[in-house]
Amino acid sequence: QRRGYHEKVLDHYNNPRNVGSFKKGDMDVGTGLVGAPACGDVMKLQIRVNKDTGRIDDVVFKTFGCGSAIASSSYLTELVRGMSLDEAGKIKNTDVAKELCLPPVKLHCSMLAEDAIKSAISDYYTKNPKAKTTDLSGTGAAIPDVTATIGSAAAAV
Ligand code: FES
Repeated sequence: QRRGYHEKVLDHYNNPRNVGSFKKGDMDVGTGLVGAPACGDVMKLQIRVNKDTGRIDDVVFKTFGCGSAIASSSYLTELVRGMSLDEAGKIKNTDVAKELCLPPVKLHCSMLAEDAIKSAISDYYTKNPKAKTTDLSGTGAAIPDVTATIGSAAAAV
C-alpha cells in the first residue's frame, strides 16, 4: 500500500465503477456538476431515474480530480444505485469519508460527492417538477448542515 491512501481508495482509483456520461437532454437524467473551491477539482455525476419507481436505475460519473475525489465518486455510484431520490439526498460526505477511511485533509474530496448527488437530484427535479415529493431546496435542516460541513472541511485544509 502506498503511503497516505487507504487500500479502498486505491481500489476505486484503479478500478473506478460506473465511469461515463448520459445525454444531458434526456428528461430522465439529472446532472450534477460541482467543483471544490479548495483545489479546483471537478466532479460530474449523472443519475437516471425510473419514472415508475422513483428510484435511481443507473448512475455514472466523471471526475477530474485527486484520487480521493475519484474514489468518492466511484463509491457514491455504488451507494446510490437503487435508492429513492429522498434516500440519495440524505447521503452525507461523512458516509463516504468513513467508508474510504479518508483523512481530515481529504474530507473536502468526499464533500464533492455529497454536493454532486444533491446537485444531480435538484437538476432532475427541475426537469421533472411533478416528481418532487420533498422540498430539498427549501429551508430544511439539510441545507445549513451542508454549509457547516463545507466550512469545517475548508478550515481543515
Ligand atoms: Fe480536491 Fe481531492 S477533491 S484534493
